[in-house]
Amino acid sequence: MKPVKVGLLGLGTVGTGVVRIVEGHQPDLLSQSGSPIEIVKVLVKDSSKSRGIHVAADKITENPWDVIENPEIDVVVEVMGGIELSKQLILAALDRGKHVVTANKDLMALHGPEILAKAAEKGCDVLYEASVAGGIPILRTLVEGFSSDRITKIMGIVNGTTNYILTKMSQEGAAYDDVLKEAQQLGYAESDPTSDVEGFDAARKMTILATLGFRANVELSDVSVKGISKVSKEDIAYGKRLGYEVKLLGIAERQDEHISISVQPTMVKHSHPLASVNGVFNAVYVYGEAVGETMFYGPGAGEMPTATSVVADLVAVVRNLNLGINGRRGFVPYKEKKLKTDEQ
Ligand code: NAP
Ligand code: HSE
Repeated sequence: MKPVKVGLLGLGTVGTGVVRIVEGHQPDLLSQSGSPIEIVKVLVKDSSKSRGIHVAADKITENPWDVIENPEIDVVVEVMGGIELSKQLILAALDRGKHVVTANKDLMALHGPEILAKAAEKGCDVLYEASVAGGIPILRTLVEGFSSDRITKIMGIVNGTTNYILTKMSQEGAAYDDVLKEAQQLGYAESDPTSDVEGFDAARKMTILATLGFRANVELSDVSVKGISKVSKEDIAYGKRLGYEVKLLGIAERQDEHISISVQPTMVKHSHPLASVNGVFNAVYVYGEAVGETMFYGPGAGEMPTATSVVADLVAVVRNLNLGINGRRGFVPYKEKKLKTDEQ
């Protein structure tokens, strides 16, 4: 059986997990997708770096065009991060008819519509489940699971690094800077952790969630953002004495043609389920007019949980290839419709 060939852009925390799952779960991937999946090229910045995983030297490259212009590659998996180069490479891959899987929320929150429009034009898939809430399949759920409902509120903890920091500060009285370093060592934080601690990462994720959940054109500038860098151990201890945990909450609400979206540190009552979402875990509440209240919980960052979502997207792309339906399904309910925020 002819394998589907994959080019991997990035072999850091997430890329390493992708290689592990693709190599370790071959029988499952074959039975789920209908084809063997083979990673044939891997882009890194520094090929001399020692890594926790072995990849054959002839597969490693420092030149992104070895992946993008390689005619045998069917699917490009982008897990390198950043915006400009990633966007350029993804658009170039789509131009060459390659399907794309990405974990890049920065890119999808800012340039999702342009990338998805190019994918539609070329009949290609672009899937990005891992971009929000790591191992929780929340994008698929919003698009497919709630296709029959009208979602009016999405609320949750969508950044693992800040939840890890707040949990350790609350439960162990740990110092902010020490726990941030730990989160970086564990591979949870972004390469520039300002994104995490100032709430920008969560804002990008809320943009994606609101776009897909509300089926409208939501922009990053619609989100009001405040991070946790000014939250002190004293604030957390004071909240605890009053029966609250401090959590970085994203809240997106829709009423008719209006939306309000915010990310901010919030006092959550101990009795509320979000108060007991600890460590790197994320949780997303979704309220639908028909279904009522639902909640999705799981690891929000880290190598294997995130790679699980990336490889699930890869399986979906390969399944579509075998069915000949690429470009027809995916996370693409972007409409031109723009909802108004209170400021507009
Ligand atoms: P990472 O550990 O920093 O890995 C990035 C990888 O990309 C590295 O292998 C790096 O090469 C390579 N790379 C970066 N810039 C490059 C360039 N200009 N040219 C060639 N190679 C380049 O990052 P990560 O944590 O795996 O995250 C990757 C993406 O997934 C990001 O978009 C992130 O937001 C997203 N994400 C991460 C998580 C998580 O838990 N970490 C969860 C969800 C989504 P070297 O190894 O040679 O430096
Ligand atoms: N830095 C992100 C987080 C990675 O901590 O949630 C997962 O998107």
